[in-house]
Amino acid sequence: MSAVRRVVIAAGDAWVDAVATALLDRLAAAPDLRMCLATGSTPLPVYDRAARSPESFAQASVLLLDEFGGLPADEPASCDCVLRDHLVDRVPLAEYRSIDPDADDLAAELRSIDTWIDGGGIDLAVLGLGRNGHLGMNEPGSPPDGRTARVDLAPTTIEGAQRYFEGRAHPKWGVTVGLRDLLAAREVWVLATGAAKADIVVASVDRPATTDVPASLLRNHPECTWWLDDPADS
Ligand code: F6R
Repeated sequence: MSAVRRVVIAAGDAWVDAVATALLDRLAAAPDLRMCLATGSTPLPVYDRAARSPESFAQASVLLLDEFGGLPADEPASCDCVLRDHLVDRVPLAEYRSIDPDADDLAAELRSIDTWIDGGGIDLAVLGLGRNGHLGMNEPGSPPDGRTARVDLAPTTIEGAQRYFEGRAHPKWGVTVGLRDLLAAREVWVLATGAAKADIVVASVDRPATTDVPASLLRNHPECTWWLDDPADS
């Protein structure tokens, strides 16, 4: 039974406060929450706000959702660095699991992420929304039963990522937790802000589910909340 909820909040501080408060409420109800967290730009103010209550995270575990491949080790826009800057290095955690796409034995690295997921599942996946409907780095056409994998990025994703890298790097691939495990998370939140996301929100929430728009597959999820600001819902 699908239970997609659409929560629309005024853009700016009100949106950030609402999502951060909901996250802290989840942690209060289940301190040992196992979270899979996106980076990109949308969730960062939410993490900043939630990190003001560091004690809330002490028993929680975090799995990084995805990571770009082939980056220099000190690249500040890697998903790992970004999540550390905005949350992981600011709060105590029971466990933080990042992804190393450049591991010598990538197959073993992918397996170990799947093993982490199999060790208790994902209680809450906090996701952003790609302009093409991607979730993590699961681009249009990704298999709904796919697990953690090395994936090629869509041309629009490669181009869009230049907002983060500002010419320092041009990643064309990455490693992402697969759709199977995101769709199997006990609860999924999709965070989308700004008018530029409005069309893909409609395609994801109001149209039939299709693998051409990975986010639309969440229509069949039993506990999915879309946290939109009013421009993204326009
Ligand atoms: C990042 C990620 C991506 C982004 C998406 C939206 O970890 O998984 O799927 O969530 O590309 O990015 P922003 O929030 O920058 O618009």
